[in-house]
This record gives sequence, structure tokens and C-alpha cells, in this order.
Amino acid sequence: MAGAAVPGAGVRVHAAEVLDAVLHRGVSLKASLASTLPQLADARDRALLEAICFSALRGRARYDRALASWMPRPLGQRDASLRALLYAGFAQLDPLGLPAHAALSATVDAARGLGRSHQAGLVNALLRRAQRDGLPAATPEDVWPAWLLAELRTDWPDAVDAITLASERMAPQWLRVNGRRLTRAAFARRLADAGIEAASSASAPDGLCVPIPVPVDALPGFAEGDVSIQDGAAQLVADALAPPSGGRVLDACAAPGGKSAHLLERDPALRLVALEIAPARVARITETFARLGIGERASVRAVDALDLGRWWDGVPFDAVLVDAPCSATGIVRRQPDVLLHRRERDIDALVALQARLLDTLAGVVAPGGTLLYATCSILRRENSAQVADFLARHPEFALAPLDARFGRDTGTGHQRLPGDDAMDGFFYARLVRAA
Ligand SMILES: C[S@@+](CC[C@H](N)C(=O)[O-])C[C@H]1O[C@@H](n2cnc3c(N)ncnc32)[C@H](O)[C@@H]1O
Repeated sequence: MAGAAVPGAGVRVHAAEVLDAVLHRGVSLKASLASTLPQLADARDRALLEAICFSALRGRARYDRALASWMPRPLGQRDASLRALLYAGFAQLDPLGLPAHAALSATVDAARGLGRSHQAGLVNALLRRAQRDGLPAATPEDVWPAWLLAELRTDWPDAVDAITLASERMAPQWLRVNGRRLTRAAFARRLADAGIEAASSASAPDGLCVPIPVPVDALPGFAEGDVSIQDGAAQLVADALAPPSGGRVLDACAAPGGKSAHLLERDPALRLVALEIAPARVARITETFARLGIGERASVRAVDALDLGRWWDGVPFDAVLVDAPCSATGIVRRQPDVLLHRRERDIDALVALQARLLDTLAGVVAPGGTLLYATCSILRRENSAQVADFLARHPEFALAPLDARFGRDTGTGHQRLPGDDAMDGFFYARLVRAA
């Protein structure tokens, strides 16, 4: 990062590097940020880096339009980091609305920090143009892959505009209050005392919605386990599963552990088994349980849930959660790179994996027990069609009703669409095994 001297230029260099990896090398935003954020000591710098990267990916199509009309020749492959820096620069002006002078000088200096001193003048000129003329609007066709937009139009003809709009907006921050430690009302008062605005959710009983996200270190009691960050739609999973008190529960796809943790906060007497195939992600579950002071009785295993012989002792579960790997099309507002990286063929593979998980884990549900299938997808193939096929293969299961808090009744499950009640898009199907 040679030569970055203007205050804030270093953050812009990091932003360009993160965006370059996401835009041009197929790295996920989560992974790219995870390796870069620890390099910034100041929490404000980390927050700024995240804000720039998220906004730049959301605004990508608009910025491409601007560059196409303002540049005589399109940027080439060798200008990948320049393109990333320009996105970071545009994002600071619109939508972030940072003071233009500081944003421009730090971004122009970052060009030097990226070894692109010869293009610093070009960066300056393009950002000044954006400041003067404004950045153009984009249509859903510019933003969404054609196959995905077509699928949404088929699946949700009456809601596709609302879905695309909500998915392209910044998400609020959702908090889940740990009812073992304090009430939601008591925590809301602590937030108010800290000057943090929050609204109690009518749908998610432990949830508070913070419209302007704050860094975790600014949340009172976070380190002590009073509160966690989890979208309201994900919090509803505990209500949909509703395991019996002290029951034997399986969370088959558990990392990073948010839903298991919520279940244990509600009932520390649960006998919970949490499985996760990715060993690196298992550590996230144990860290979460340790912070929240739960999980003494839980068994956390790094194992493939499909490999029953390796982990199941033959004792059936009262409640099984299959929070399945999915397209993440319901959480584009939190993972804007889904629109860059998801391919149509990925969906077929996911649908096949989800069906295998359901078929295998159906066998560990006790008679009269519950199997909850949940995804953060909004595609029917992964959701209501998946459940309809499962019910056809498994006459020993029947669909149990869920109330309107869980979203639209699709006939074979409930679908929340992104932005409904300020929550993520999410699907829930509660399946009960015949007694
Ligand atoms: C949607 S995430 C689960 C989120 C989690 N329930 C929570 O609330 O924090 C799906 C997880 O399933 C894991 N997974 C995928 N296939 C699996 C398998 N065959 N066995 C166990 N875990 C699996 C993935 O690595 C991923 O961590």
C-alpha cells in the first residue's frame, strides 16, 4: 500500500482490494471481508470499509452505466483494481453521501496506494463528474442475472418489483435478546440509554429492529451474551420448530449456530445435537455458545449429517431442524454478491442436496415428532416444490399449520419475502411424523 498518505486513503485501498476479489476473482464478500477487516485497528475504519463494500456491490449496475457513458473506451481486464476503486469512490458519494471533498481526496490518493498513480487524475475526473451530474439509475435487468429474474417473475408475479426493491436496499440490523439474561423491554431501555434507536418486533418475540446498524462493540452487553445479531426471519425458526421442553433436538446444518443458540436460550434443558459439515465453521458455533453461556448440554459435531452411521446413536429426536444450504436469494440485501456469483446450475445441485438431507433426516424423527425445513431462499424449487415432493415420497409426514407471522401460505409451507416486516426472505415448512 505504498504512498497512501491522505487520511482514510488506506480504507479505500482495502475497499478496492476487497471489491476486486469479489467482482473479478469470484471470492465471496463475506470471505474477502473476513480476511481484510482484522487488518484495520479502528472500529470506525472497519465500519466504513463494510459500508463502502456493501454499497458498491449494491450500486454496481449503476456505476457500470456511468462508466459506459463517461469513458471513451471500456476498462480492460488489467484495470480490475481501478474499476473496483471507482465503485468504492462512487459508493461514497451515492448512496453513502460522505462529505465529497474527503471522499474524493482519499479515493484519489488510494489510486496511488494501489500503484496506479498514473490513473489518479482519471479517478479524480470521474468522481467529480459523478458529483456534478449524479449517478444514473439502474433497472432490475441490469442488476439481476436474467435466469434468476425470470424465475422470480414466474414464482412471484405479483411481488417481483417489491422483491427486487427490498433486495437492493440496505438491510436493518436485527437483534435477538437473550431471554435467559434479561427481557426485551429491559434491553430496549439500555439501547435507548446508549442513544441507539430500535423497534420491538410484533412477529419475533425476542427481536428488536435497529434501522441504522451499529458495530457490535457499540451494543451494550454483547460480549456478555445479552444480545446477538440475527435477522427476525431467522429468529422465527425457533417458534416454528417449537420443541417440547427438555426435548431431544437435532440441528442438522448448524453453523454459525444462531438458531441452535436461540433454542438453547429459550430452553437450556434441551438435549441438543448440532451438526456441521465444514470443520472451520464448527468453531463459530462453539464461540457463540461460549459467549452466550449456553450449550453445556449440547453436543456439537463436525460431521456430514447425511452420514448417519458416523453420528447417530439410533435414538430418535423430538424435533429436527434442517436449515438447509440454499441459494440465499432471500438475503441478497445482506449478501449482494449472491447476484454476482450464483449460477443457474447451482440451484439444481442445491435442490438435490436439500432432498437428500430431508430424506435422510426424516428417518431420525421420533413418531409424533417435528421436522422443520427452513431456507433463506425465495425460489419455489427449493421451497414449496421441494416440500411437495418430500410429502409425496414420505406419506408418514403431514404438513402442520403455521400462522400468518411466517408469511404467505404456499400450500406446502410459508414464505416470507424480503422486506416483509423489515425481515429477510425465508421459508418454513413444519412437518410432523405420524404418531
Ligand atoms: C443455512 S446454513 C445454517 C445456518 C445455521 N442454522 C444458523 O442459524 O446459524 C447451512 C449450513 O449447513 C452446512 N451443511 C451443508 N451440508 C451439510 C451436511 N451434509 N451436513 C451438515 N452440515 C451441512 C453448511 O456448511 C452451512 O454451514
